[in-house]
Amino acid sequence: MAEADPTTPEGYQFFDPQNLACPHAGWKMLREKAPVYRIPVPAKVPVYVAAGRDEIEFITRNNDHFSTRPDASVWRWGDGFPDEIAEAFAAAGMNVVMTLQSTDPPDSLHYRNVLSEVIGPGSVKNWRPRIEEIIEGLIADIPDGEPFNFVEAFSVPLPLKVICLILGIPYSDSAFFRYYSDEFTHLVDPTHPMDRALKATDTIVKGYAYLRERMLEYRENPADNLLSAYANAEFDGRLATMDEALSMAHVTIIAGNETTRNALSSALFTLAKDPDLWARLKADRSLVKDFYTEVLRRDAPATTTPRTVLKDVELGGVQLRKGDVVFVLWGSGSHAEQHFDDPLAFDIDRSNKSAHTTFGMGVHHCAGSALAREELGQAFNAILDNFDRIELARPAEDISYDPVFGFRAISELPVIFHRSSRA
Ligand code: HEM
Repeated sequence: MAEADPTTPEGYQFFDPQNLACPHAGWKMLREKAPVYRIPVPAKVPVYVAAGRDEIEFITRNNDHFSTRPDASVWRWGDGFPDEIAEAFAAAGMNVVMTLQSTDPPDSLHYRNVLSEVIGPGSVKNWRPRIEEIIEGLIADIPDGEPFNFVEAFSVPLPLKVICLILGIPYSDSAFFRYYSDEFTHLVDPTHPMDRALKATDTIVKGYAYLRERMLEYRENPADNLLSAYANAEFDGRLATMDEALSMAHVTIIAGNETTRNALSSALFTLAKDPDLWARLKADRSLVKDFYTEVLRRDAPATTTPRTVLKDVELGGVQLRKGDVVFVLWGSGSHAEQHFDDPLAFDIDRSNKSAHTTFGMGVHHCAGSALAREELGQAFNAILDNFDRIELARPAEDISYDPVFGFRAISELPVIFHRSSRA
């Protein structure tokens, strides 16, 4: 039998591990040949990907056609729960409801306002000194001149501790919330078997119960943190229900961790490979922002999120029907040739690098982007302050991205940092 031609949408293996780890050739082919394309997944509804920039922009402008409320066959959460899972939450006196990221305007706007008040562009600076302390602690533990895995030593703990700080959760419980985030994947991904999903449900119910306890305390004694803001939020004159407050806390934990983790890892990988870039940043700190912006453009940490089609519509030459699912490929939008020459090249001098789609677009544009940028800026300034030189502890070709759909993640990034004698 003739081999399928991987340069065509029909022949391209979307779920081949190599293509998942490096989706760029597939995205480019889709942008050229099939900006909206139905992919072969075992879901109950037709599932498409949108790779074309115009099509991505259309989706984000037309919220009456495309909802962020997830379809159960691609996201097993809330609406799509099998009875056993719904019962596990109900037995603990809780219901999973949709709030941040999974509702549409106007509801979604009420929810994101609560988050934005605490960590939006106007308020993120309030957290700066405490984030600096977290970074100082992580930098102090980095070994001098010896190999270590940057992901576990830095990319994982920084966003995790920052989210705990902002929510008002003690750092001593941060390890549980890493486990909680990892387990969540087994629950929501409908390709994971039910017995595994049920095991994961135990952890998520425990996490929900923990968050509820803290939020009940914050209803009694409000504090300057995000759990307290969620617990005491008012929408149109009514107090948020505990289910809504729990949902907002949950989404914040999930949305704020792995994304920023991947951004930190890709940025460090880029820097450790390029001594000239290191020297430029050392000499001119005003370039740090350009540096991480171009990393975000080239290596979108969260490559895609789904939309559910609300009304029949033709897009990219394809007829979409009510109920279909479209995964919006944010990573592909950030490589669109009509905006970016040589889109795979890392070019810190690119004038329009912030025209990326890495944080989404429109009414659902990332509500945590100011915090992510704050963490990236502070982290790389601290690394540049404290070290004379950094290098990979393994050839770059032997470091790879994980073969996963949805994230551009690195699990192992072995590096050697040489501490500055002045630090
Ligand atoms: C580099 C790090 C991050 C990246 C790449 C990223 C990416 C994204 C993307 C692509 C969306 C749009 C989703 C869609 O339209 O379907 C989004 C939305 C969102 N993000 Fe982020 N995110 C990051 C960090 C964070 C952080 C740190 C938080 C919170 C602490 C956060 C909270 C949210 C929330 C709540 C939404 C939903 C907004 C809404 O629907 O109104 N994100 N993010």
